[in-house]
Amino acid sequence: MATQPKNVLVVTASAQHEGSVTRRFANELIEKLEAQHGQLNIVNRDVSKGLPFIDGEWVSANFTPADQRSEAQLARLATSDALVQEIKDADIVVIAAPIYNFSVPASLKAWIDMVARVGLTFNYTSEGPVGLLTGKKAYVVIASGGTQIGSDIDFASGYLRHVLGFIGIHDVSLISAERFNHEDTDAISKIQSQIAELTLVAA
Ligand SMILES: Cc1cc2nc3c(=O)[nH]c(=O)nc-3n(C[C@H](O)[C@H](O)[C@H](O)COP(=O)(O)O)c2cc1C
Repeated sequence: MATQPKNVLVVTASAQHEGSVTRRFANELIEKLEAQHGQLNIVNRDVSKGLPFIDGEWVSANFTPADQRSEAQLARLATSDALVQEIKDADIVVIAAPIYNFSVPASLKAWIDMVARVGLTFNYTSEGPVGLLTGKKAYVVIASGGTQIGSDIDFASGYLRHVLGFIGIHDVSLISAERFNHEDTDAISKIQSQIAELTLVAA
């Protein structure tokens, strides 16, 4: 019996397209996923042009019970609802994250703010918050110019891992390209071997 193609959500955030390290290695990772799984249903969500920020109207719409929201409140949450649905539908989530000013780009933070939704992607319980997006695999492709990934001044990789866990995605693999130079073939093969060595999700 033919297996269903995996749904893959690819979130890209680099302000650059030409020459973007995170976009390049996210593409290489997807090629590897295709080699393993065959055809994939890929949804590309490029957030680099920005997303709405949370404001007072959004917060009050979010905390109004779903069946009591006004038309205006439903409209205010529509982008968030669509982004939540995309990540809910995904079996695999790939996040391509450049480090900007020691953390994630503001556009990627805005995406996180849109998908971290109480009642939809996490719940508060007597034992604390519980993520609802279980059974998914995430890959984070992260690139920096000088900041060492995993160091005390990297406020991106630990944050992304934490926030993914918060919404229930605990199986996270990190592919890091630090101090990347396009001419440096050693650096390129180091990143490619990180991708090659990844344990991929079961077919
Ligand atoms: C606005 C901006 C801020 C940056 N801030 C940092 C930083 O804090 N630390 C760092 O190591 N690199 C920083 N960089 C370098 C990028 O992380 C690096 O160029 C990375 O390759 C970007 O990913 P990309 O090639 O996919 O765009 C910054 C780059 C830009 C454009």
